[in-house]
This record gives sequence, C-alpha cells and structure tokens, in this order.
Amino acid sequence: MKILVLHGPNLNLLGSRENDVYGSVTLDAINRALEDLAKAEGVKLAIHQSNAEGDLVDWIQKAAGAFDALLINPGAFTHTSIALRDAIAGVGIPAIEVHLSNIYRREAFRQHSYIAGVAIGQISGFGSDSYVLGLRAAVAHVKRAQTIKT
Ligand code: DQA
Repeated sequence: MKILVLHGPNLNLLGSRENDVYGSVTLDAINRALEDLAKAEGVKLAIHQSNAEGDLVDWIQKAAGAFDALLINPGAFTHTSIALRDAIAGVGIPAIEVHLSNIYRREAFRQHSYIAGVAIGQISGFGSDSYVLGLRAAVAHVKRAQTIKT
C-alpha cells in the first residue's frame, strides 16, 4: 500500500508558528511519527510540503495510479482552493483531510472547507495526532476497499 502525504502552505513553520494554536511539534517530528506508523503497518509513504497551490495540484495529479490514498493538510488552501478540490475529484483518489486545529471553533472564514466535499473524511482539532489518526483512517479505508474488491 502506498500513501501520499501532502502538507500545504506555512506548515513548514510548525514548531515556531502560532504555538498557542498549532502546538510546538515540528513538521519533521510529524513526518517521523507518520513514518513510524507506516513502517509498523507495512505502508510506503511519499511526503511533500509546498507553499504553492500548483505544486500540490501537480502532486495530486501524478498520484493517479501510483498511490492508494492521499492524506492532506491543505492549510489555508482548505478555505480557498477549488483547484485542489477539482484535482482530488478528477484523480478520484481517496483523500483524508486533516487539520491540527479544530477549524470549526475558529474564525468564520476557516469553517468552510472546499476539500471536505471530495474527501472520505476529515480529522480536525487533535494537534499533531490528527495526522496519525488520519493515516490510520487512510490505511483502514484502503484495506476495506481491497477486501471488497477481492
Ligand atoms: C490548518 C488550519 C487552516 O485554517 C490554516 O490556514 C492552516 C493550518 C490546521 O492544520 O489547523 O494553515 O490547516
């Protein structure tokens, strides 16, 4: 099983960015936790971060046929990007949307996600654990889908 992990804009700043909202865990530490879980589950990960919407769209497009699922924190693009939504819908890859903060108890502009409507599900508000929970959900979803197929 292969899972693509995408981190959107400003997530490279985790650890020093608005610690009261996002905690003090760095992106490297999050990626290590994901790699540890992936290893235990026998799953292969490819992990990328970009501040550019086009990079994220390109990675999603290239995921067609190459990855079984997408774990994505779209960052601020969650609330703005029809392009990311269209890429996920267009490729038809099962996507799990994650957020460190609970976007539904923040500013009104963060309470709408363009991604949620094309995602399998969303995990929001558990800090860096959101990613680990999201990866578990992705693995379970792919296993379930494979069992139905066989
Ligand atoms: C975020 C929430 C977004 O609203 C914000 O723009 C981010 C991070 C989160 O993980 O909580 O950059 O996606």
